[in-house]
Amino acid sequence: MKTWATGYAPPSIGNVAVGFDILGQSFDAPGDRVTVRRAEQPGVRITAIRGVVQNLPLDAENNTAGRALRGLVATAEPGFGLEVELEKGIALGSGMGGSAASAVAALVAANALLDPPLSLGTLYELAKEGEAAASGSRHGDNVAPMLLGGLALAPERGAPISIPVPEQLFCAVVHPHFVLETRRAREALRGAYALHDFVRQSEHLALVLAGCFKNDLELIRRGLSDTLIEPRRAALVPGFPAVKAAALAGGALGASISGAGPSVFAWAEGRGTAERVGKAMADAFEAHGQVADVFVSKVSAPRRGWKPRVRELRQHPSAGRPVRVAERGDLARARPRRGAVRAREGAALE
Ligand code: HSE
Repeated sequence: MKTWATGYAPPSIGNVAVGFDILGQSFDAPGDRVTVRRAEQPGVRITAIRGVVQNLPLDAENNTAGRALRGLVATAEPGFGLEVELEKGIALGSGMGGSAASAVAALVAANALLDPPLSLGTLYELAKEGEAAASGSRHGDNVAPMLLGGLALAPERGAPISIPVPEQLFCAVVHPHFVLETRRAREALRGAYALHDFVRQSEHLALVLAGCFKNDLELIRRGLSDTLIEPRRAALVPGFPAVKAAALAGGALGASISGAGPSVFAWAEGRGTAERVGKAMADAFEAHGQVADVFVSKVSAPRRGWKPRVRELRQHPSAGRPVRVAERGDLARARPRRGAVRAREGAALE
């Protein structure tokens, strides 16, 4: 009988210039780890929060991991309670999916204790509930790529969908060290939108998706631009115009605010260009008084390159494909920071 499991979720860009609230990308950088233990006492209790963020609510209903796990318990009725330890690797209010990652990592861990486990589609719905605890909105563009790895479509109903990504496509994500709350960044989006802008942005999304499916970076370059959301948020990120200009001057295919900000991301052809672009973006932030971290990763990461022994989870009728978790021992063999969905499992000694 498994008595504990540790789940991992990578950071993500939720909106990649296109696909507001419906398209996101995970990337290879420090993520969140959550350990879940079976407990005799029913319900969900958060016992520890460590890492880069510690002042989070311990009460389960107001914590993204706790809210998601309460949903899992109500759905699966496992007959035992859950004790939860969070290790935050992603800063909150960073634009890198920090609140969603705790929910996803917690669900992946708890799911490894269930027999039979829940489907991808069900985990996705529960993770969106966790996201809502932090942001007030059930959008899935962070949790979908965290569950699947790489670029993923986050539909309102049904399981998330992987989008193929050209292998030579890399991202640079630059994180300035200040907090921009998602709720505040979403407030900036209130008000009517012109039909013309909506049509242009639909074209951008279509071009990016067509470019991904056709392996055509020129189509991606034409589409990777945000005429709808970015103009309303740009003023919330000091130095944003200069940071974006630095990315484009450095050869990026496109650049925009990562998620709700303040991080800014760019896509580029090849790791070398992405590294140069990331440095230029960080320098531009620094010129505006902001110290910033730079992460460079394949856009398809961290799904590929990590080959765990896997078992399929029970397929939900709405799920397009099965989610997979690692079996015991895989984590030790896997390179760190690889694999969107991982669970390390423990067994009772008796
Ligand atoms: N799609 C979301 C937004 C991501 O841009 O507000 C942040 O959670």
